[in-house]
Amino acid sequence: MKKLELDVRSFLYPMPTTLVGANIDGKPNYLVIAFCGIVNAHPPIISVSINQSHYTNIGIIENKTFSVNIPSADMAIKTDYCGLVSGGEVDKSAVFTNFYGKLGTAPMIQECPLNLECRLIQTLEFDVDTAYIGEVVSVYTEERYFTDGRLDIKKIDPIVFATHERAYYRIGDYIGQAWNIGAAFEGKDVIKKKR
Ligand SMILES: Cc1cc2nc3c(=O)[nH]c(=O)nc-3n(C[C@H](O)[C@H](O)[C@H](O)COP(=O)(O)O)c2cc1C
Repeated sequence: MKKLELDVRSFLYPMPTTLVGANIDGKPNYLVIAFCGIVNAHPPIISVSINQSHYTNIGIIENKTFSVNIPSADMAIKTDYCGLVSGGEVDKSAVFTNFYGKLGTAPMIQECPLNLECRLIQTLEFDVDTAYIGEVVSVYTEERYFTDGRLDIKKIDPIVFATHERAYYRIGDYIGQAWNIGAAFEGKDVIKKKR
């Protein structure tokens, strides 16, 4: 099949739907961020890229802390609202129930099944967006999101963002175990290397 070339701004596919929180003038503000990624495993470091016009920048720069909250599908309307309106125009501090962790200035959302509390360690400025690199100092969840001692993605029910459709989806079916099912592949295209 012939490959079609897309706009290079098609980025990664799909994207996560996260709510990034920061305190501005002592009040929590949240915005939707799809540009969120893992940068390092040990210590755990993540990045969030935020358009320089957004209100949330002020709080991250002010406190050098922020949070990344993973909303579940039943929070889709409130989540999208935080991506539609700016904290510069509307006070979003009462949209969710807020709580704070050990850093004291990174507001987190009680209703989200997963909360990452981050300390800003680096800032990378690009033309339009600023990438905030944060060390994850704490991760919070609740007992009800576990099955057999492990976080259960079906219970967390995260929202997947389909960029091209500008749409939200739920995660789909279980396929198999990672670092496991690949062992069953013994194809003719595999050429063993001699050492
Ligand atoms: C699905 C979705 C994903 C978004 N992803 C990002 C993103 O990755 N980076 C960004 O700067 N803005 C993103 N936005 C836009 C901001 O969330 C939006 O402009 C928000 O209202 C800014 O809020 P603030 O001014 O209170 O910070 C996204 C919005 C939606 C709906």
